[in-house]
Amino acid sequence: MKDRSYKIAVIPGDGTGPEVVAEGLKVLKAASKKFGFVYKEEMFDYGGDRYLKTGKTVTDKEVAGLKKFDAIYLGAIGHPDVKPGILEQGILLKTRFGLDQYINLRPVKLYNSAFCPLKDKRPEDIDFVVVRENSEGLYKGMGEFVDKGTEEEVAIQISHNTRKGVERCIRYAFEYCRKRNKRKTLTLCGKTNVLTYAWDLWQRTFDEVKKDYPDIKTDYAHVDATTMWFVKNPEWFDTIVTDNMFGDIITDLGAMIQGGMGIAAGGNINPKGVSMFEPIGGSAPKYTGKHVINPLAAICALGMLLENIGEEEAGKAVENAVINIVQTKLKSLAAGKMGYSTEEIGDLVAGSL
Ligand code: IPM
Ligand code: MN
Repeated sequence: MKDRSYKIAVIPGDGTGPEVVAEGLKVLKAASKKFGFVYKEEMFDYGGDRYLKTGKTVTDKEVAGLKKFDAIYLGAIGHPDVKPGILEQGILLKTRFGLDQYINLRPVKLYNSAFCPLKDKRPEDIDFVVVRENSEGLYKGMGEFVDKGTEEEVAIQISHNTRKGVERCIRYAFEYCRKRNKRKTLTLCGKTNVLTYAWDLWQRTFDEVKKDYPDIKTDYAHVDATTMWFVKNPEWFDTIVTDNMFGDIITDLGAMIQGGMGIAAGGNINPKGVSMFEPIGGSAPKYTGKHVINPLAAICALGMLLENIGEEEAGKAVENAVINIVQTKLKSLAAGKMGYSTEEIGDLVAGSL
């Protein structure tokens, strides 16, 4: 019989991270009762506050320590008193890279047309998934300054793409698209007309890999055009595969058309290792401690976590509970305008399970 006991690492993190994670854990508890699995959670204080006290982001050993868990549940990383880049690179990216979470999976799904900024778009029009490469590209941090601080200064930032890295991402996207079984269309989103090294490799790899997936239709869109289609014809998309930087950018736009950061979740996936799930919105410092932040993105991330560890039924139930609340209760998905506090929304979802 399947072992249905799980070890979950929880990193509440900064800002509103702890508040939204608390609601997610409430839902996890309700789901475990309802669906009969058991779990142990272990808390980690990685984040801006610990950094300000100790000067530590996360050590290699701490990242390695996360490997013994079945999944990681993350709130948010980012602190107004810490210079941009330190926590993002030292905690978030270090964990993604250190655990080789080479896929960043970001579903874009509208649950209620009332919360869509686009005119006349219905839930069935906005329902696609972005498969973002999560371990390479511009995020590799390669580059240099030449003559820094002088008038002749040059700053070089390299997009580092390996055949292996690109191929494993594209294969994952084809498999995902097949399993998703919707329109069975995979769109490669790139910039082949300008970035003629990186996107030549991506395009060639895509064209080779697609031979193994004759049941999947394929398409290509430049990244700039993709942002236009997101607004004009989001119904054209099913699964999109793209690099790290483009994936970062288009998924913020994706979050907006699905109703905002309050509902957008993502998973940092290592298909053979431990994956990490998070709301994509960040730490939202101005809302911290006000009980107004929307926890649904974190709750959706929890739903993805459950599916990932093999509790598909529970994961689907969490998503359906969210859909129910979004369609029947909330006034808005935006912080402070929902008609409920953060905690009340957690209770609603847990109750509706
Ligand atoms: C995201 C975030 C991160 C990223 C930042 C915080 C490093 O914007 O998860 O999309 O760029 O990947
Ligand atoms: Mn981002």
